[in-house]
Amino acid sequence: MRLIIKKDYRAMSKKAAKIVAEQIREKPDSVLGLATGSTVIGTYKELIRIHKKEGLDFSEVTTFNLDEYYPIPSTHPQSYHYFIHKELFNHINIDPDRIHIPDGLVKNTNAFCQWYEDEIKKAGGIDLQLLGIGKDGHIGFNEPGSSLGSRTRIKTLTAQTIKDNAQFFKKKEDVPKFAITIGVGTILDAKRCLLLASGKNKAKVLKKAIEGPITAQVTASVLQMHKELLVIADEEASSALERKEYYQHIEELTGKLKTLTLEED
Ligand code: F6R
Repeated sequence: MRLIIKKDYRAMSKKAAKIVAEQIREKPDSVLGLATGSTVIGTYKELIRIHKKEGLDFSEVTTFNLDEYYPIPSTHPQSYHYFIHKELFNHINIDPDRIHIPDGLVKNTNAFCQWYEDEIKKAGGIDLQLLGIGKDGHIGFNEPGSSLGSRTRIKTLTAQTIKDNAQFFKKKEDVPKFAITIGVGTILDAKRCLLLASGKNKAKVLKKAIEGPITAQVTASVLQMHKELLVIADEEASSALERKEYYQHIEELTGKLKTLTLEED
């Protein structure tokens, strides 16, 4: 695991976008796993800028979104389908046939979830999975208690999540009680994971996720077992980490090692 600490949200977003852009430049037909939510908006803004100003080409990129509420129409302003189009897809040259987002109105959810898993496999697996972290430690919609080996499936949202979401819906009855989410096991299969955390309200949970024990009660903690995890956190989100200085020390020395290796070449 590598942890990079950046000054603030803007610097975190710029660094994350740079990594995604490098992935696409190295492998133009990359398969990206995408998250929604407030943490990733800055990263998407910066990717749009790189696309517009530096010509980053998304035409061969395939994407899989992590999750979607259920039931919800794709046109609903609170749907993740709506979000990802508004914040990213509408502004880049992505091929609509290469976009995959869980269907919030599908009738046979089990068959759909199996299809989603099969499509990820058919695409060659996820090269880079972008992740945010929920205050309860969830990744995707894998709420506390989710199996650490879980695959794409329909999940019942916790009472707290339903309560938190109520503010975004006009009527209480409209607040979704379920979501389709790729599983913790599906996330672990990604070749690289990039976890972002920003703000004071993520400090406690980030500490649990990367310095605490691996537990289904904090599904993000399983990322400690991933072979290529990069965490980018801002100062506030990393403020509770016990080994903060150690991570900074490692980053400094890794930078030096890179220079040495380049000099040897
Ligand atoms: C959304 C998702 C969630 C969010 C998490 C953090 O697709 O998978 O796990 O990443 O809830 O949300 P924000 O960024 O809004 O704090």
